[in-house]
Amino acid sequence: MFRQIRPVGNKITFSNKATTSFFPDYHFAGYGSGTQALAAALLAAKALKSSVQSPKALLPAYACPDLISACVFAGVQPVLIDLSPDSPWMDLNLIQTQLDERVIAIVAVNFLGIPERMEALKPLALKHSAVLIEDSAQSLPKSGSDAVFQGDIIICSFGRGKPLSLLEGGGILCKSEKIKLALPPSDNQTDTQTTLSSLKYRFKAHIFNCLSRPFPFYLLNKLPFIHFGGTRYKKLEGLTTLPFPVKNIIHFNYHAFSKNVQRNQAIFDLLYPFHNKQLVDLIRKSSHPLHHFLLRYPLLINDPATRNDILEASNQAGLGLTAMYQTTLPNIENIPDIPSDSSNEYPNAEHFASRLLTIPTHSDMRIKDIKTLSSILNKYL
Ligand SMILES: Cc1ncc(COP(=O)(O)O)c(C=O)c1O
Repeated sequence: MFRQIRPVGNKITFSNKATTSFFPDYHFAGYGSGTQALAAALLAAKALKSSVQSPKALLPAYACPDLISACVFAGVQPVLIDLSPDSPWMDLNLIQTQLDERVIAIVAVNFLGIPERMEALKPLALKHSAVLIEDSAQSLPKSGSDAVFQGDIIICSFGRGKPLSLLEGGGILCKSEKIKLALPPSDNQTDTQTTLSSLKYRFKAHIFNCLSRPFPFYLLNKLPFIHFGGTRYKKLEGLTTLPFPVKNIIHFNYHAFSKNVQRNQAIFDLLYPFHNKQLVDLIRKSSHPLHHFLLRYPLLINDPATRNDILEASNQAGLGLTAMYQTTLPNIENIPDIPSDSSNEYPNAEHFASRLLTIPTHSDMRIKDIKTLSSILNKYL
């Protein structure tokens, strides 16, 4: 068995076939990464509520540490909200207790394809004149008809491991003219297209495409100095613009993305007998439509020790399962001190982190691999 399934990822294409426009109804502002796009959104939210002296943003206690990098860069205090039990969603009651005039934004993270409860968050944000930022770095609707964006600002990422991975870049989608005018420019607005930069990008993309196949990915994982998936805090140094080679290929890569085959239904069927007894199928629990995009398929194994056993056994079998960040934001390596107005305890988020497993959904996860996973689940559950 010399194969290892990559956790996520599409191939980057340069073939300019039929194009599906990338959300033509929205204004698009490109930045160097999703983190930068989020920082720009927070700066815009700050500018729109400029009377606030020490601005705060509400965000989930279990999330990517890049959310903290963006807050620190934007000079906004992050206020962490514990999750609702057995869910990736922020506890709405806790949000209500934390909302005050200093809150300039609520960051609603779309978790691997499961949107936050935007209908409930919208009126709360509106009541406090806060901007509702829909962080969609981990998700993208496959088509306009799946488009369920409801935030004032939507964050996209084109980084590695993201739905539409083009190796780098990020962006903001918004409709409001007021927000559009409040967005900060990136430092190097003058990034111009050169033949050399295009060639360099093509070379990188080609290597990436080759390495993401199961056999090369297996070899890559055997290298002692390569560690995938470690969660660390990275300081954001500045805002740059979306590189030209990436900008040029978004539309037709989005077209290719919209045609990608996913294994959502097969994984749903696999988990069906175990749901509510030994595990919580988060897709089933959130009534998420199976034909909608999922970056990975998330579930919670009721017993954390069993989660770890399943993770290890599936990794031995090269199945590409991951436990994601493993802990809450305050416990992530190198994270700066997050001043807390509340208890600084996030029991539901901790419990969620200790039991989460995510399964690759892309087409290199073959039906045969799903059967191997089924044997592992049957052994441990
Ligand atoms: C929810 C969320 N927002 C923002 C980001 C940052 O995106 P990028 O990696 O493009 O900086 C990430 C990264 O994983 C993320 O998961």
